[in-house]
Amino acid sequence: MSGMITAVSLNPAIDRTMTVPGFTAGATNRAASSRTDPGGKGINVARVVKRLGGPVQVLGFLGASNGALHTNHLAGLAIPAQFISVPGDTRVNIKVIEPGSHQLTEINDAGFAVSAAHLATLITQAETLLTGTAVLVLAGSLPAGVPADIYGELIAAANRAGVPAILDADGEALARALPARPALIKPNRAEAERLLGRHLETRADLVQAAQDLLAGGARTVVISSGGEGAMLASAAGAWWATPPAINPGSTVGAGDSMVAGLALALARGMAPDQALRLATAAGSATASLAGTQVCDAAGVAALLAGVSITAIA
Ligand SMILES: Nc1ncnc2c1ncn2[C@@H]1O[C@H](COP(=O)(O)OP(=O)(O)OP(=O)(O)O)[C@@H](O)[C@H]1O
Ligand SMILES: [Mg+2]
Repeated sequence: MSGMITAVSLNPAIDRTMTVPGFTAGATNRAASSRTDPGGKGINVARVVKRLGGPVQVLGFLGASNGALHTNHLAGLAIPAQFISVPGDTRVNIKVIEPGSHQLTEINDAGFAVSAAHLATLITQAETLLTGTAVLVLAGSLPAGVPADIYGELIAAANRAGVPAILDADGEALARALPARPALIKPNRAEAERLLGRHLETRADLVQAAQDLLAGGARTVVISSGGEGAMLASAAGAWWATPPAINPGSTVGAGDSMVAGLALALARGMAPDQALRLATAAGSATASLAGTQVCDAAGVAALLAGVSITAIA
């Protein structure tokens, strides 16, 4: 299908969210309610692309013991998925919400390890899928057994196939991928700070950071900064986006929604300032929704005109 977005999810997660009144570490606590959601950045990006009307497919690993949650969920959304089943569990990430203080406590599991043979299978499947792919999205952390340069390898394969690759990663996985020249990276402020090893305080600091990351190999840099908005820089110029005021819900999935918007914009050949507008509207639409809900097309359309875009000299 034309415009197909392929989202790679190497380290999916099962998000177990519990509401625990009076949560206390070191004590026996009881949940008032709980829910289980399939998670992982690549999976979330795919969900949002689908809701915004784009064709999307998923490639990744899943733990053999509890993979059905993800496969059933994506099948229910009519998102084609190719998962390589690996021995062990898909990690379970526990989120404890204390309803009075709204304090969130998170415990992230380590999950499965990937063998060299499974990794080779994934790379072969990625290369096959690139043939019918308009934009490749690489998002999220790496499971044990996957080398830190995997994203660089997948970006190099995408570049050989003439497919733009969007990368949303942190730490080593991001740093090692830059020289492979991804079409776009989307660090948030903290990720950009870790990548550059310095504090980024002002907007001028962010603009300089984006220039440094362009020099480091990224063709387009989007640095997001929560409710403050985001900036986009490429050889074509630089823009700042300020989101409209929203009724805050939960920012869970805001960054993934922004990445989905950027992927759709690249697949549709949109100009950089319009790509930033769409991505910001998508991130903010998700931030206005409660819990793990992500934006839909109507919610994004309602915010588009309210995003203010300014060119940075
Ligand atoms: N409080 C907010 N109000 C309005 N918009 C928001 C808010 N938080 C996030 N957004 C929107 O979502 C975009 C991405 O948010 P953010 O910078 O928090 O991403 P992130 O840190 O990568 O998130 P994630 O934790 O999902 O990876 C922002 O640029 C903005 O458009
Ligand atoms: Mg993020």
